[in-house]
Amino acid sequence: MQSSKAGQDESSAAAASNDENIQVRSLTAAETDIEKCYAMRNQVFIQEQNVPIEIEMDSYDETALHILATYQGQPCGAARLVVSEDTKTGKIGRVCVLNSHRRKGIGRKIMEHSIQELRRILGTGNKAQLGAQTHALKFYESMGFGLVPGEEYMAAGGVPHRDMELTL
Ligand SMILES: CC(C)(COP(=O)(O)OP(=O)(O)OC[C@H]1O[C@@H](n2cnc3c(N)ncnc32)[C@H](O)[C@@H]1OP(=O)(O)O)[C@@H](O)C(=O)NCCC(=O)NCCS
Repeated sequence: MQSSKAGQDESSAAAASNDENIQVRSLTAAETDIEKCYAMRNQVFIQEQNVPIEIEMDSYDETALHILATYQGQPCGAARLVVSEDTKTGKIGRVCVLNSHRRKGIGRKIMEHSIQELRRILGTGNKAQLGAQTHALKFYESMGFGLVPGEEYMAAGGVPHRDMELTL
């Protein structure tokens, strides 16, 4: 469990005390529960953010390591990890939490699990990378990611992004 921070407010203290309700695990595209990951991404990116389905679902899904989060046993969030053994980098993408479940610490748990998995696969000292929607920059900064020098760009059907990275 995440240790308490000095000065945390009541709502984040409540989220921390609910940590045991949140489970995060990894799975491959061959596992039945992969449909739960795709359902979370569909709900958040396709339905809520209007990302076109042909952009949201791509060929990396077949080989990626997928992350599924549940809250009290019910699917509530997802992400995926695309690892390049050539460049020794891991890209964290498709990070999402259902609108109804946000600000409970689920996104943080997904990120902590993802970073841990990349460290296990690639080893320490290598890079975790991501393309952050600009509204989520503070979220990723709070996980230790920093901005990569460069311009804002449009991706996912016209959503502004910045590249970020973290040393594993
Ligand atoms: C971004 C997202 C995954 C965050 O998930 P979440 O479960 O609400 O995040 P958490 O509750 O774990 O918050 C973790 C930290 O980030 C901060 N944070 C979360 N959302 C934030 C936001 N929109 N703006 C600023 N800070 C935010 C929280 O304050 C928290 O900080 P703390 O631990 O110091 O209190 C979620 O808002 C989401 O799914 N958004 C839609 C999909 C999306 O845009 N994904 C990003 C694609 S790049």
